Amino acid sequence: EKGNHRHFMAKEIHEQPEVVGRTLAHYVDLANGRVALPEALPFDFKDLSRLSITACGTAYYAGLVAKYWFESLARLPVEIDVASEARYREPPLDTAGLTLVISQSGETADTLASLRYAKSQGQHTLAVVNVPTSTIAREASAVVPTLAGPEIGVASTKAFSCQLTVLLCLAIAAGRARGTLSAERERELVDALITVPGLMADATKLEGEIELLAREVSKARDVLYLGRGTSYPMALEGALKLKEISYIHAEGYAAGELKHGPIALIDESVPVIVIAPHDAIFEKTVSNMQEVAARGGRIILIGDAKGAAAAGLDTMATVTMPDLDPVVSPIVYAVPIQLIAYHTAVFMGKDVDQPRNLAKSVTVE
Ligand code: F6R
Repeated sequence: EKGNHRHFMAKEIHEQPEVVGRTLAHYVDLANGRVALPEALPFDFKDLSRLSITACGTAYYAGLVAKYWFESLARLPVEIDVASEARYREPPLDTAGLTLVISQSGETADTLASLRYAKSQGQHTLAVVNVPTSTIAREASAVVPTLAGPEIGVASTKAFSCQLTVLLCLAIAAGRARGTLSAERERELVDALITVPGLMADATKLEGEIELLAREVSKARDVLYLGRGTSYPMALEGALKLKEISYIHAEGYAAGELKHGPIALIDESVPVIVIAPHDAIFEKTVSNMQEVAARGGRIILIGDAKGAAAAGLDTMATVTMPDLDPVVSPIVYAVPIQLIAYHTAVFMGKDVDQPRNLAKSVTVE
């Protein structure tokens, strides 16, 4: 079943160009360059007062990326919380709001409970799920499936990139409905989305150099991940992926928070993985990289050639990603982030498909 891969996780990382392509084909009208949801939703995005997102773990980080997309493309106010907090906090939810839950398995107990709470408050509910027969898929008022296929590796990879793909399509649809996204910008975004599977395939070709880099990462006791904008949740996701399969302590931070605490950790022994496509806030991230470099920190930059040239910094390594529309960068940048965690754990001899203490589906609270 693993084909010619050593682990399910490797197979699932490499499957991403295909499954993201399949998911895109489901939500995008390729001929007309626009997003087209296959089924009508039981609410109109233009009537929504607020979007409340809940999820756990990696699915929560997909939601955090989506917050940036819904706010910028659809000007829709978004609140997001991990499901285990949202459900017990019992936040006020008005009937003009939508609760969006995200789950690969569709069985995560806390996510299900927050969905049920939202329904009890009279909210519309929308679920982004990968298992179409799951409890969450059955109970939500509307479902937008991710078409990643069964995910076996405990660490979520292809489900995450498919969640991002679906969420970006939803944010584009919301932007059109709310009149905040021009037809021209929608076409540009769809053009960018269409290039994503190919760019992900290009990113998998960086595997050889990432494998070498992973040997360095494996020596670390702590690793810091930094990013701004949508790269901030990607930093959180990178840290989660590394810690869950390699057991190296890793933390993700908003790059701007560096000076508010984590900078105290920086010395030669702490690799700092900076996720920074050449976007509108790239310059700000460069200042943070300079702060790291000035303290002897070793930077691993995941960025593009333009950014690497503009930053002009000595890095321990640069993973040079293709040029792309920064809006779609999280989907493509998921690949090197996953490969770094994977190869670090494999090099350390860890069981990447069955990491200790973790279950694929968390149906207990
Ligand atoms: C991380 C991971 C977990 C899950 C989380 C939610 O790699 O796999 O953090 O993302 O347990 O699971 P689902 O998406 O099934 O609700």
